[in-house]
Amino acid sequence: MNRQVRVILDHAVLLLGLIVLGGCATPKIIRPGAVWPDNRGQHVQAHGGGIIKLGDIYYWFGEDRSRDNEPKYRYVACYSSTDLVHWMFRRQVVKLSDPELLGGNWVLERPKVFHNSKTKKFVMYAHIDGKGDYKFASVAVFICDTVDGDYQYLKSFRPLGHESRDIGQFIDDDGASYLIYEDRPNGFHIAKLSDDYLTLENDMGLVPEHLEGGALVHYDGLYYFIGSQLTGWGANPNKYATAKSLEGPWSEFKDIAPPETTTYGSQSTMLLKVVGSKTTTVIFMGDLWNPGTQWDSRYLWMPLEIGGGKLCLPKPKDWTLNIITGEAVIKNNHGSCVAPTLSTILMQGHYP
Ligand code: GAL
Repeated sequence: MNRQVRVILDHAVLLLGLIVLGGCATPKIIRPGAVWPDNRGQHVQAHGGGIIKLGDIYYWFGEDRSRDNEPKYRYVACYSSTDLVHWMFRRQVVKLSDPELLGGNWVLERPKVFHNSKTKKFVMYAHIDGKGDYKFASVAVFICDTVDGDYQYLKSFRPLGHESRDIGQFIDDDGASYLIYEDRPNGFHIAKLSDDYLTLENDMGLVPEHLEGGALVHYDGLYYFIGSQLTGWGANPNKYATAKSLEGPWSEFKDIAPPETTTYGSQSTMLLKVVGSKTTTVIFMGDLWNPGTQWDSRYLWMPLEIGGGKLCLPKPKDWTLNIITGEAVIKNNHGSCVAPTLSTILMQGHYP
C-alpha cells in the first residue's frame, strides 16, 4: 500500500477511535502551555521543531527529549496530523550517536525537514554542536526516502563557511526553500538551499541583528521575521521585523508581545501559515523550555495578529482552529494586542 494512503487510513482510524470513545470527536482546542498528548496519550516530543505539509497531512518534527531516551543518543521524533490538534506519533526518525566526536554532552537541536520534489528525498537539517563550548557551530544533514523513515546522517558543515547555531526553516509561496541560521559574530542569514537541498547555494543577505530561534512567514506581500534574543533557555522579548524582499532592507525590530517581557515564557521556533477557504492564519509556534525537566517542555502556539507591517502575539488562551476555513478563535480574548488604555496602564503598572 502506498505510504501516503496508509497515513490517511491511520488518521481515519484515529478519528474513528475518538468518535467511539468520546461520543464525538474531541474538541479541536489548542491549549498553550498544557501537556499535549499524542495518540498514545504521551506528551508530544517535538521541541525546537518544524512542520511540513504533504497533501492534507502535517508532519511535526522536533527534538525528542523523552525521559527514558538513552543518554548517548540524540533523537528526533516525527508526528502527523490532519488538524494540527490531534497528533499521531510516527516514530523516532533519528537516533544518532555522536558522529563528529564532540564529547558527552553534544547537542542535536532544532531539526527541520524539507521535501525535495525533484529528488523525492526528505532532507533534514539540525544544529550540531559540542555542549561545553558550542564551538563546532555547524549544521548536520540527514536524508531519507520517506517522510517518517530512518533518516541517515550524511555530513555536517558550516553554512557558506559561517558559524551556525540555532536554525529555522522557511518555504516560500513559490516552493523555494531556505535555511535561517544564527551566525554569532555577525547576525543571522537566510540562505537558499541548493537544488538537491544537500547544501546551501545562496545567501539572501546577512541581517546584522543578534537573534536566534529564527522564523519567517510570507504574508500578504510582506516577509515577517521573528527571533529571540541570546539568553539560552531563559525567555526574553522575541522581536520581529518586516521586509518586501528576503534581501531586505528589514524594518526596525520590535517586540512581538509588548508590554510582556518574556514572550509569555516562550521562544520562537516557527511561523506556520494555514491557508483556509475563508482566511489565512499564521501560527506562532514557540517552546516553553523546562531546562531541568526537558521532556516536560511545553509548547506555546497562538494565532498571530498580523498585517500591514504589524505583528502581535496575543496573550495565551485556549483557541480553536478550523483547518478547512483557516479561522482561529481565541477563547475569552480581551484583545491583549490592543494598545493599553491609561486605566490598564495604571492598573497593571505597564508603561507605554
Ligand atoms: C537557546 C537555543 C536552544 C538551546 C538553548 C541551550 O538559546 O535557542 O535551542 O540551544 O539555547 O542553552
